[in-house]
Amino acid sequence: MMLQHDAMTGQDRARVGVVGSGWWATTAHLPALSRDPRAELAGVVDLDRSRAAEAAERFGAPLACDTVEELLEAGVDGVVVATPHDQHYEPTRLALEHGADVLLEKPMAIEAAEARALVALSRERGRRLDVGYPFLYTRHALALKQAFDQGELGEVVTATGVFARGMMPFYAGDVSSSKETAPDTMWETDVATWANAERGGGQMLSQVTHAASLLLHLSGLQPETLFAATDNYTTDVDVWDVIAFQARGGAIGSLTSTGTLGAGAARVEEYRIFGTEGHALLDTSEGTLVITRYGDAPREDRPLEPDEIYPMYAPAERLVSGIFDRELPDTAELGLLTVELLAGARTSAKNGSTVRLDA
Ligand SMILES: NC(=O)c1ccc[n+]([C@@H]2O[C@H](COP(=O)([O-])OP(=O)(O)OC[C@H]3O[C@@H](n4cnc5c(N)ncnc54)[C@H](O)[C@@H]3O)[C@@H](O)[C@H]2O)c1
Repeated sequence: MMLQHDAMTGQDRARVGVVGSGWWATTAHLPALSRDPRAELAGVVDLDRSRAAEAAERFGAPLACDTVEELLEAGVDGVVVATPHDQHYEPTRLALEHGADVLLEKPMAIEAAEARALVALSRERGRRLDVGYPFLYTRHALALKQAFDQGELGEVVTATGVFARGMMPFYAGDVSSSKETAPDTMWETDVATWANAERGGGQMLSQVTHAASLLLHLSGLQPETLFAATDNYTTDVDVWDVIAFQARGGAIGSLTSTGTLGAGAARVEEYRIFGTEGHALLDTSEGTLVITRYGDAPREDRPLEPDEIYPMYAPAERLVSGIFDRELPDTAELGLLTVELLAGARTSAKNGSTVRLDA
């Protein structure tokens, strides 16, 4: 461990570097790390060295460079990889090989083989590998996960997620609004990440990945067979998608998603999970959670405050927590399961066939 001892506070601080200092790193991860008293920003890497230098200066990192190796040589406990979808594998592999814990942005990979290799490497090296899914960490998601884990709602029988956002400008090539995401945001995102199917663009890999991971995380379902359909609407990438699956043991699930919400419309994100002893409705857009246990009156949790609805700093904070607490579970297997589901869904949608995920 490269923990840095802070003589002022008497505390150890985790040394964390960031690879890819684009839209999301400057919106979420760099601000989160620079404000976290348990972390010390070790450096910023970007293929575009001037971006790395500007971000390093803005967030107070002592090193700016254009290779991951240079960052690793400087000594790190953790690395955040926030590069475009088709640039996730190599920086993550290098960081894990070097012995760092990693937070990798979603989706873990475009194809399952790369995700499997990264999970295997992280297990072999005993390192954490987290995926950038903020919605796992809302107060409601944590409470609902606990309710299912403790058997409060019995065995899950069906689980459904609906996820709709206004993504059409991105898919049509206009990403200018991304520059206004948060006060810390330094640059707009790259059009290719959203509008180029070869590079992992489209609704499935950029948005359904959030809904799928949350539904699988909460329900614990392990999909075995699936059928999916998608449509590109007026763009070159998938804009709306449906995935229906059957999980190990017989339970079923579905995900429906569209990127077509119009300007000014609030995002719609709902999850309904039915167990043998009760059911739950989680609305991650409205910030509400209602749990109904059969025989009891429905229980509504205190709604989320506006600043709890999108916990975009949570993944980087979790990486830092995990560096200190080796017992804290990571999300490597969840990230892989999600990639496998989405890869199977793309095959199913293309061929019009049912896909077995273990085949
Ligand atoms: N979790 C969320 O809510 C959320 C939101 C937005 C984006 N993201 C994810 O964040 C990731 C990055 O997206 P973005 O919009 O910030 O991309 P971006 O294009 O704005 O930034 C990526 C940066 O990485 C750099 N880069 C590219 N290849 C590199 C390499 N091999 N090594 C080092 N640097 C490299 C680019 O120069 C660029 O500055 C994606 O996986 C995306 O899906 C997540």
